[in-house]
Amino acid sequence: MTQDEMKKQAAWAALEFIPHNTVVGVGTGSTVNHFIDALASIKQHIKGAVSSSVQSTEKLKALGIPVLELNDIDSFSVYVDGADEINPLKHMIKGGGAALTREKIVAAVAERFICIVDSSKQVDTLGKFPLPVEVIPMAMAYVQRQLNELGGDARLRENVITDNGNLILDVHNLKITDPKALESSINNIVGVVCNGIFAHRAADTVLVGSATGTVIIN
Ligand code: A5P
Repeated sequence: MTQDEMKKQAAWAALEFIPHNTVVGVGTGSTVNHFIDALASIKQHIKGAVSSSVQSTEKLKALGIPVLELNDIDSFSVYVDGADEINPLKHMIKGGGAALTREKIVAAVAERFICIVDSSKQVDTLGKFPLPVEVIPMAMAYVQRQLNELGGDARLRENVITDNGNLILDVHNLKITDPKALESSINNIVGVVCNGIFAHRAADTVLVGSATGTVIIN
């Protein structure tokens, strides 16, 4: 089974966790693209979606799923998104697709975060995947120096502007032993909009697509 087939398997398994007549939070990425295809098959049973990126919004609309504004909704039951890495505490690194800030905002409003991954995303310690950090453009060099002082090797992601008009620094060589503490300290650097550690808002349920079927971790 290919990695993409495992992503697809986890994505379609998420349908079981979508209550009828609800608003669904939708993440971003190749795994979520499979989920949006799956969601289209039950679109008559949901009120619509809240999207975390322009990319997902376009796909949702193309498949006839209404896209709602987050500001018009007090809360909703389920957010479904992928991850670049996930540890046994369900802390994640996200932002490989540069959508981390909107993902973190939508996830914050959701009652339940369902993370859909293939088994290659499971790690014991976060940090092998370079940590994405969204930065206000004029602060880029300052933030880069601060991240390097934390022990990382922060590199500008070339030719990428986020949906919010900002830049992404990818921080290599971090061994993230205390994800909550590092998430907070990076957020405290002036000029940082958001970083890709999702530890304060971890996943609640993980669906792992693997060659032997989808494993559910609660
Ligand atoms: C998007 O910014 C990311 O957070 C994605 O959720 C993450 O990169 C996983 O992407 P894939 O599903 O494409 O592996």
